[in-house]
Amino acid sequence: MLIHIPQILAPETVAQLRMALAQAGPAWVDGRATAGYQGAPVKLNQQVDERSSVAIECQRVVAAALERNALFISAALPNALYPPMFNRYGEGMGFGLHVDGGIRLHPHHGNKFRTDLSLTLFLSDPDSYDGGELQIVDTYGTHSAKLPAGDMVLYPSTSLHQVTPVTRGERVACFTWVQSMVRDDGDRTLLFELDTAIQRLNATQADTEACRTLVGTYHNLLRKWGEV
Ligand code: NI
Repeated sequence: MLIHIPQILAPETVAQLRMALAQAGPAWVDGRATAGYQGAPVKLNQQVDERSSVAIECQRVVAAALERNALFISAALPNALYPPMFNRYGEGMGFGLHVDGGIRLHPHHGNKFRTDLSLTLFLSDPDSYDGGELQIVDTYGTHSAKLPAGDMVLYPSTSLHQVTPVTRGERVACFTWVQSMVRDDGDRTLLFELDTAIQRLNATQADTEACRTLVGTYHNLLRKWGEV
């Protein structure tokens, strides 16, 4: 499932992050520092050293915003969030087709982290740059995302994806991964659809007894499929 989650960050928070990132100076490093053997040859961008103080400050802001977002929680069922990372693509930069690594080492404590979901949180106004689209390939074809600043796209980490070359301006974004309580995308999608339907029924104050049964079914499926 690929989902657009609007307004993860308020405009003033986007501005605060952009200012901190603009002042990161030597913390900006070649994006290939964290690329694997498949990604490195096609990756041309810059990212903030994930252990730098500016990265840690910005990671806290994004992680707190994600934890508050009900749509993100329902869709991702996060068990753990990889510390958010920050990148920029200037003119001529892009990132060719690749699949993200399945297991990463957590930058702060070194534990293994399974990447079930990938997310990109856009931090640049889409009118301020040309190109720089995130293109995600699935069985239905190729989907493009170039979202307003503060909006996010969430997609299965199993997906082939790329960032098309930027031809004008600069594209700044935050990206990271989620280790989900429900690792299978199909199972997670069923739970998301069920939860969304229950929220709608609750909002319309439909048959409360039937709603109670559905909430029980949701939690029993979560218990069956969830790992914590
Ligand atoms: Ni990627």
